[in-house]
Amino acid sequence: MRITSLLQTSFLCLLSASITFAQVQQSLSLNSLSTFSGSSISNPATFGLPASSSLTVSVAICSSQATSGRFFLTNGSDVFEIQLNTGFGSWTGSAANNASLLVEGVGQSTFEVAVSDNGTVHEILDVLPLFGDSTANQAILFSPPFAFETTPEPTYPNYSLPLANSSLPDAPPSPTFDLVIAPLSAQLTSLPQTGCSLANVSSTGTVELNNTWLRGSGDWRSQWFVDGLSPDTNYTAYVIQDEVKVSGPIYFVTKSSSFPCPLVYSLPYCPSTAYAVPLPPPQSPALAYDAASLPTNISDPLLQYMTNFTTMLLTFGCGRDLYSPLQTCSDCQREYRSWLCDVSFPRCSEPSFTSSESSGSNAQAPLSALQPQPSGATPRNPFFPVVNYTYTSLLPCLEVCHAVDRACPYFLGISCPVPQFNADASYGVGFIDSGESGVVGHGTTGAAQDRWGNLWCNGN
Ligand SMILES: *[C@@H]1O[C@H](CO)[C@@H](O)[C@H](O)[C@H]1NC(C)=O
Ligand SMILES: *[C@@H]1O[C@H](CO)[C@@H](O)[C@H](O)[C@H]1NC(C)=O
Ligand SMILES: *[C@@H]1O[C@H](CO)[C@@H](O)[C@H](O)[C@H]1NC(C)=O
Ligand SMILES: *[C@@H]1O[C@H](CO)[C@@H](O)[C@H](O)[C@H]1NC(C)=O
Ligand SMILES: *[C@@H]1O[C@H](CO)[C@@H](O)[C@H](O)[C@H]1NC(C)=O
Ligand SMILES: *[C@@H]1O[C@H](CO)[C@@H](O)[C@H](O)[C@H]1NC(C)=O
Ligand SMILES: *[C@@H]1O[C@H](CO)[C@@H](O)[C@H](O)[C@H]1NC(C)=O
Ligand SMILES: *[C@@H]1O[C@H](CO)[C@@H](O)[C@H](O)[C@H]1NC(C)=O
Ligand SMILES: *[C@@H]1O[C@H](CO)[C@@H](O)[C@H](O)[C@H]1NC(C)=O
Ligand SMILES: *[C@@H]1O[C@H](CO)[C@@H](O)[C@H](O)[C@H]1NC(C)=O
Ligand SMILES: *[C@@H]1O[C@H](CO)[C@@H](O)[C@H](O)[C@H]1NC(C)=O
Repeated sequence: MRITSLLQTSFLCLLSASITFAQVQQSLSLNSLSTFSGSSISNPATFGLPASSSLTVSVAICSSQATSGRFFLTNGSDVFEIQLNTGFGSWTGSAANNASLLVEGVGQSTFEVAVSDNGTVHEILDVLPLFGDSTANQAILFSPPFAFETTPEPTYPNYSLPLANSSLPDAPPSPTFDLVIAPLSAQLTSLPQTGCSLANVSSTGTVELNNTWLRGSGDWRSQWFVDGLSPDTNYTAYVIQDEVKVSGPIYFVTKSSSFPCPLVYSLPYCPSTAYAVPLPPPQSPALAYDAASLPTNISDPLLQYMTNFTTMLLTFGCGRDLYSPLQTCSDCQREYRSWLCDVSFPRCSEPSFTSSESSGSNAQAPLSALQPQPSGATPRNPFFPVVNYTYTSLLPCLEVCHAVDRACPYFLGISCPVPQFNADASYGVGFIDSGESGVVGHGTTGAAQDRWGNLWCNGN
């Protein structure tokens, strides 16, 4: 913001005095990130800036005590104040070689200054982390996507589709991601929303595994499996990229201490499956099921269904004959996989606890697609064992079925139940799309889950 108001005159005087007379404490070079402690610089302090036709100077406050600090910049001809919003601010414009930054009133606190000719360094990302699922004391979380997998569309006559059990391609280079988790009581949202401030929070839980994962939608993300959380607790989570870009907050709740279902994740053949399933506890030392520990009497039939479906699909002249102006056989296979995984792995959930924070505002919230499953009942997937506990399942979103219906050739005979005839016995209906079949959009929640920790139906 350019300073014009008369009220700013005193600052302008201070600024021009410092710029003209005060010695530049230090020159900041182009494409650098510097950390300063208020106790080791003068007040005010002046920093020289490099000349550039497209200079970006961004500032991040590292602790709440410094939020009264002010940052002024002269590009050689005009004076600007870098306005801080939640501890973060930036300026972009052209600057002459006598440009400088004046810092005033930060007290003893630490702050960062980044100088760049290629856009902002400090940033609050629009894209949020993704919550997989939780148990009483574990959770699976994902960073925002950092790359997209693009596989070229196969062509006729050599139209081939991925095998049912194909392994993940090599991961592209990943930024550095850090995960920060704390209960609501830590009030992370009242801290400066900057990487250096949030990274200094002592995060709750133990990261048991962190790797790079390709989800079914084609997005590469960092994945974390966290243990050591408390039951029935609403947690706040952030992901910090390369120490300077902040994604979040999102919220998620852990299940009650009696929640019986373990998590399953990291299955290459069901790449978006990362949630609690009705299985016996995994054999120690495993904390959850993955491709190595999942019983083959569950994975084998699933892979067979996938293989058989692909064989049948390829009897169509894929890549030569069109069955839709928009969809191809590879779209069909991808949507079928996603549906098959969602219905093959029943998902355990439970009614969300009514916390004092949410009971007021959430009074009108729609009820999730939950269905009680008595102990000893025949599982929906006959290849699953009968478990000796009672649980509640979260039904797949009906849209997961509609996506297969839309993407696949008619001759495969895919048909989804219609809402008028009991679709809600096996699917969550009306959350993403409206209840009338085939009407896209206008559902009650518009999504399978939200950033506040609500889960409506199973589907991504
Ligand atoms: C991080 O937190 C510790 C106290 O927990 C504090 O002494 C330190 O100054 C903080 N660091 C920054 C960069 O704010
Ligand atoms: C900074 O430099 C520009 C051109 O290089 C000049 O026009 C301007 O007067 C200088 N400003 C100050 C405050 O010296
Ligand atoms: C300083 O910024 C103003 C506003 O963007 C611009 O008009 C002016 O040319 C810049 N001055 C220099 C020396 O680049
Ligand atoms: C500038 O930023 C863009 C995107 O933010 C990035 O792709 C590019 O590599 C950067 N260029 C340099 C020279 O760092
Ligand atoms: C068909 O495509 C696959 C992979 O896309 C390739 O490995 C194979 O060599 C191709 N076969 C022919 C006959 O072009
Ligand atoms: C899938 O393929 C991998 C090797 O690529 C193999 O180790 C694994 O056993 C296979 N999984 C199943 C369920 O067949
Ligand atoms: C994730 O793993 C990388 C190395 O594999 C490590 O540098 C990083 O600190 C880990 N992150 C967390 C949150 O544990
Ligand atoms: C349920 O079965 C598990 C083994 O799968 C066993 O450890 C547990 O004691 C059983 N619980 C009850 C209540 O029977
Ligand atoms: C898949 O096809 C094979 C061979 O046609 C058949 O034996 C098998 O039962 C089929 N599996 C499923 C799950 O449909
Ligand atoms: C699958 O195998 C496990 C042992 O590996 C067994 O306990 C379970 O009963 C089997 N499930 C079914 C449905 O056959
Ligand atoms: C978790 O806490 C946030 C912030 O108070 C709230 O908005 C959200 O509704 C809570 N989530 C649940 C599932 O209770």
